[in-house]
Amino acid sequence: MILGIETSCDETAAAIVVRDQFGQSVIRSNVVRSQLDEHAAFGGVVPELAARAHVTFLDHIIAQACREANIALGDVDAIAATAGPGLVGGVLVGLTTAKALAAALDKPLLAINHLEAHALTARMTNGVQFPYLMLLVSGGHSQFVLVRGVGDYERWGTTIDDALGEAFDKVAKLLTLGHPGGPAVEAMAKQGDPRRFKFPRPLLREARLDFSFSGLKTAVRLQAEALAPLSDRDVADIAASFQAAVAEVVSVRARQALDRFKAELPAAAPQLVVAGGVAANRAIAAALTTVCNKAGATLIVPPIALCTDNGAMVAWAGAERFALGVADGFDVTARPRWPLDLPDMKVNYHGS
Ligand code: KG4
Ligand code: ZN
Repeated sequence: MILGIETSCDETAAAIVVRDQFGQSVIRSNVVRSQLDEHAAFGGVVPELAARAHVTFLDHIIAQACREANIALGDVDAIAATAGPGLVGGVLVGLTTAKALAAALDKPLLAINHLEAHALTARMTNGVQFPYLMLLVSGGHSQFVLVRGVGDYERWGTTIDDALGEAFDKVAKLLTLGHPGGPAVEAMAKQGDPRRFKFPRPLLREARLDFSFSGLKTAVRLQAEALAPLSDRDVADIAASFQAAVAEVVSVRARQALDRFKAELPAAAPQLVVAGGVAANRAIAAALTTVCNKAGATLIVPPIALCTDNGAMVAWAGAERFALGVADGFDVTARPRWPLDLPDMKVNYHGS
């Protein structure tokens, strides 16, 4: 039974998750406090405000997670916290809290890579077996990762500029749809004509599995400026045309990634797991469903509350590591950057 703590962005979260000897999970509690209100006036996440809100609320969120799970803190077997990547002030709050609790309760500490937590979530929710391909699309990341095992990752592609969720947020901002932008753009797009504007599909002709969204975002801005002042119709059509461009880019890339998966792992059943907040987008999910059907691949989208940032995914990643005998020292540090395919992610890593 693991306590998981997540504070790497604008959610203060804690959860109690049990993993049994067969790898089955029970989420005993999963408490998430979003800081949307704190940041609303600024049109985006302000790191210093985020860190302060984590300080204010984390103790209470942990207490609530224990209460809802009907346990005392001392009942847990280990304490897991996101140690990066993320906004370092917030990561420090969660990691330091975890260290203090681990020291006071004499429990093992697990310093979790946030991306690993997203990557392993589908094993908690759907019992997915290794290996699988993960598409992580959130406000901070857009990447394809081959997940071979706990700690064993190969990054096949990433974004060379904006993350996909970030592109949604920026487009929403320039269409004055508010923050977070993804859901607002999706809602507007439903009423718009996706064929009115032919926005660029960046990098699509190249074989690499990388993304680029800044050129698309610029094209959207130029179009909006050319039409200003925008009517409701214009806003809806721009949103719909932007979303159509993104859905096409994501589905072409997913097809290429699945082709590579089948070529490199011919014995494995092709599986695509989607993680991150953008997984909530129905147009993108529909495009991925089509791609997977055509490729004979299984598409796994965990419940959306577990795709966005939460404590249960951190607890689960901790549980998977703990089951393999991993524990971290109190000298681990908060890391703003921490790619998944570094050697120190490996379960048997003992320093360089
Ligand atoms: O995973 P997440 O909750 O937080 C991190 O960034 O780690 O993802 C949030 C991102 C935001 O950029 C938000 O605009 C985007 O996911 N998002 C969406 C949708 N819902 C959330 N993007 C497109 N369509 C949506 N329905
Ligand atoms: Zn995340």
